[in-house]
Amino acid sequence: MKIRKAIIPVAGLGTRFLPATKSIPKEMFPIVDKPIIQYIVEEAVHSGIEEILFITNPYKESIVSYFDRSFELEHRLQQSGKIELLDGIQSLSCLAKFYYLRQGEPMGTGHAVLLAKEFVGNEPFAILYGDDIIDSSIPCLKQMIDVFEQHDCNVLCVEELEEDMISGKGIIEYEDVEIGKIKSIVEKPNLEEAPSNHGSLGRYILKPEIFDELEKIDFVNGELLLTDAILRLMKTQSFYACKIDGQYYDVGSKFGFIKANVEFALKDESLHGIVLDYLSQKNKSSF
Ligand code: UTP
Repeated sequence: MKIRKAIIPVAGLGTRFLPATKSIPKEMFPIVDKPIIQYIVEEAVHSGIEEILFITNPYKESIVSYFDRSFELEHRLQQSGKIELLDGIQSLSCLAKFYYLRQGEPMGTGHAVLLAKEFVGNEPFAILYGDDIIDSSIPCLKQMIDVFEQHDCNVLCVEELEEDMISGKGIIEYEDVEIGKIKSIVEKPNLEEAPSNHGSLGRYILKPEIFDELEKIDFVNGELLLTDAILRLMKTQSFYACKIDGQYYDVGSKFGFIKANVEFALKDESLHGIVLDYLSQKNKSSF
């Protein structure tokens, strides 16, 4: 069955970026000149997704506006002959069919996904979190869809992690590492207890039975966690890992956000030279 629908939960508090996230959604922070959310939506669309549901909240209206038409801006760009900019702005609303649902309170990733039960219906679907950008020639979600089509299974996106990141992520325990068959996920283990160095990123392909499991899990510290429902589903359905071919940026963290900005600026023709000069001067002056 084709993966046509995606959920993008954006109703989290973004506490790692306070005070900025008090009034600006972290998903709207720009990586050079494009907000994080646009990279994520483009990845979904270039992977074949047709319908996108944002799980949002009242403070994230700027995300809704971003993927809507902006008649006054479009009119002004038209009048001043800035046609290239106009095309870029207009094309945003046509990327996919966008839907929005509000999460009354940030009651966790599992709670956010459960709100999408009706939207998803009875088909496999994708989830993309607003904190992970993956820069790759084949979109990350497309790589995952290939694994889904090969095994007809749930798919987790994994990345080889540096040792210092292991204790902050969900770490994959394999049943068969050669073929990527997953046994379990161990949340934020100590380095010595980690079953592998593969961390699960914020991309999922799940079968609709996940909603039955989401309805059975308990709140932990006021939150329903998607991982808890995934662990339950692992008892009855198979999960495979898709090790991404690409560069992963944890843009929900300050360092990951800065790194992504530097790397994307270096890829931009108009910025490459000046950014590189700046970095090398900075490097020299720090000795
Ligand atoms: P995170 O827990 O990583 O993000 O949720 P956060 O809560 O926004 O950020 P920090 O950790 O406080 O800095 C992963 C994704 O799930 C969404 C977030 O917006 C993010 O895209 N989310 C999280 C919800 O939509 N609702 C929630 O209740 C929790």
